[in-house]
Amino acid sequence: MKDKKAVRIAVFASGKGTNLQSIIDGCRRGDIPGKVVFVLSDNSHAFAISRAKRAGIETVILARRRYKSDETYSARMLKEVRKRKIDLICLAGFLLKLPEPVVREYRNRILNIHPALLPKFGGKGMYGLRVHREVLRKGEKISGCSVHFVDEKYDHGRVFLRKVVKVKKTDTPETLQERILKEEHILFPKAVRKWVDEFYEEQKND
Ligand code: GRF
Repeated sequence: MKDKKAVRIAVFASGKGTNLQSIIDGCRRGDIPGKVVFVLSDNSHAFAISRAKRAGIETVILARRRYKSDETYSARMLKEVRKRKIDLICLAGFLLKLPEPVVREYRNRILNIHPALLPKFGGKGMYGLRVHREVLRKGEKISGCSVHFVDEKYDHGRVFLRKVVKVKKTDTPETLQERILKEEHILFPKAVRKWVDEFYEEQKND
């Protein structure tokens, strides 16, 4: 049996990294029996990178514009993940579409968090405040957040865990975003824990 304490997690993040922080904290508390081995970003100015450094976690910056093609970019990404023997990749506000070779090699081992109840309000271009604006425009009574497996299409893979949040009549995109983000910080570590319990021992990466 594999040692659950040793679950090796990579987090990919492009922005503030509050979800990254929730995973780091979940590992520290022992709610997640593993550790964040490295943080990858396409943006060297992402605050996620500062958070990782502050926590003593290795960081890797892969700016897409520095690579000639999707192939060379994805080959480099795969190399970084493989060499650290990563069990699970968490996309925590990673804005680039994950290259297909990475999705194929790590199938069922990549989780993404999305600030809506998928399959609604997902897909290309649906990120940040745009999601919450759409939810309000459509007059939805509930929204929330979803953690799902990543496949070849944006926000499309099987939903693994989600949390419903009531939409208030007085909500603005900003207030809704804030309330949902708080729930994301609970949901993502919970989903990682669930993944470890249900999937980790099946993995071939030993
Ligand atoms: C979150 O709302 C997440 O659902 C989405 O991007 C945002 C990232 O926020 N995928 P943060 O960088 O974790 O603060």
